[in-house]
Amino acid sequence: MPNVRLFILDLGKHNSSGGVIRTRMAERVLEGIVLAAGKGTRMRSDLPKGLHRILGVPMVELAARNLRKAGVTRPTIVVGHGGDQIVEALGDGYAYAWQREQLGTGHAALCAETALKDHDGPVLIVPGDAPLIEPDFLRRLAAVQAETGAACAMATCVMDDPFGYGRILRDAEGRPMGIVEEKDATPEQKALREVCVSVYCFQARTLFRLLKTLRNDNAQGEYYLTDMVGAIYRDGGNTVCVRVQDTEMLMGVNDRWQLAEAARVLRTRILRAHALAGVTIVDPGSTHVGPDVEIGADSTLLPNTVLEGRTVVGAGCAIGPNTVLRNATVEDGASVVCSFVADSTVGAGSRVGPFAHLRGGTRLGSGARVGNFVEMKNVEFGASSSAAHLTYLGDASVGESVNVGAGTITCNYDGFTKHRTRIGDGAFVGSNSTLIAPVTIGEGSVVGAGSVIRHDVPKDALAIARADQVLKEGWAARRREAKGGKK
Ligand code: UD1
Ligand code: CA
Repeated sequence: MPNVRLFILDLGKHNSSGGVIRTRMAERVLEGIVLAAGKGTRMRSDLPKGLHRILGVPMVELAARNLRKAGVTRPTIVVGHGGDQIVEALGDGYAYAWQREQLGTGHAALCAETALKDHDGPVLIVPGDAPLIEPDFLRRLAAVQAETGAACAMATCVMDDPFGYGRILRDAEGRPMGIVEEKDATPEQKALREVCVSVYCFQARTLFRLLKTLRNDNAQGEYYLTDMVGAIYRDGGNTVCVRVQDTEMLMGVNDRWQLAEAARVLRTRILRAHALAGVTIVDPGSTHVGPDVEIGADSTLLPNTVLEGRTVVGAGCAIGPNTVLRNATVEDGASVVCSFVADSTVGAGSRVGPFAHLRGGTRLGSGARVGNFVEMKNVEFGASSSAAHLTYLGDASVGESVNVGAGTITCNYDGFTKHRTRIGDGAFVGSNSTLIAPVTIGEGSVVGAGSVIRHDVPKDALAIARADQVLKEGWAARRREAKGGKK
């Protein structure tokens, strides 16, 4: 046995020693594996466990992104159960290795060998059901592996209730010499409180060489990745434990309650980061912001606000209350109140809501006004234009400084095809107008209220298309009399 000193790093949340080591790490190519072939029985779901979403992102993708943020260019995901669905959902930003039969975590890691065959360096391994591991921590784990030259740097933590976890076994000198799973442990071993959390950084060559020597003569008849610690020890190598204090980040998701808890933790983390970057979050408890959302400084999120997907909010915006933005862009100084905006852009200084619905690639120019009960789909809506009440605009190009009166509707669909409505700059569309597309309302023109517009309106013209008013003096009084008075 080589005489290597026991190396334990206690890494608290705010340990900052990683910085120096990180620069030295830069030259080493870092690889990473996500183990995600297991069934996840306790989710009680037809969906593969890894595809259950947290703040809109599949859990396994969050795990893989953590590897990427830690410096792994293209993480390898070991898939099996529901693997086709996972590959389809995550796409080709990742490499995939198949584990056709789930023979254990050790076997799963071995399945990644071909994907990493040319790699002779460090490889991080994380479970696909632990989405909260901080990339900083993974970087430090890799740094410790590099610094010590150990065959494995392994995250451990000390738990008051270690039930269900693999326990770390140490030799007389305190060196890690094995891990025993709950189901294989003796009562004395079960009393050990330092546990394996399935987060490792291995020396790749040693990993794949020794994985092939593992046996499955244990309580579950599986090839355990945890047995690598014993294999390394017998091989004369060394495993270094890096102790985690912030156990929240190790939270594993095995059922849907844990899914909800993990979502709460991630949500809080994201909100905290935005708050510290200058965003006012009035009620964190009811505010949901996805991991890919960007928000500018001095913006305010009011209660019951949900920002999803690739949403970008500029500076000095007010969003909410009761608002959902999905893949939306809201430019500086705009406000969106009690509204739903999907795949659309709200221009700088625009005011949207309450109760507006923008979707399908709608783009509001700057200083636009979209009020209550207005829906827009696939609309270009020019700067300073206004649709303040009760309107549907679909497949329309609206110029600048246009006024769209209350109750205006574009009839964009004839039952077969969608058609476009064009409204020129400065046009005034009177209330309750019906614009039958394809149709063009010329620049500076006026459409009389209540018109049904079937034909193009030239520039600066007035179009009135409604039955003219009929007046019959005294008619109502005569009727009352005929009916015997009153009413
Ligand atoms: C594992 C560890 C245990 C540790 C615990 C911490 C082993 C043998 N045990 O147990 O020491 O305390 O994690 O969370 O490693 N997977 C596959 N293929 C398989 C089996 C599992 O890809 O054949 C994947 C699963 O999808 C999952 C991950 O590996 O993402 C962990 O597997 P799981 O069965 O949850 O391991 P634990 O029993 O939690
Ligand atoms: Ca687990």
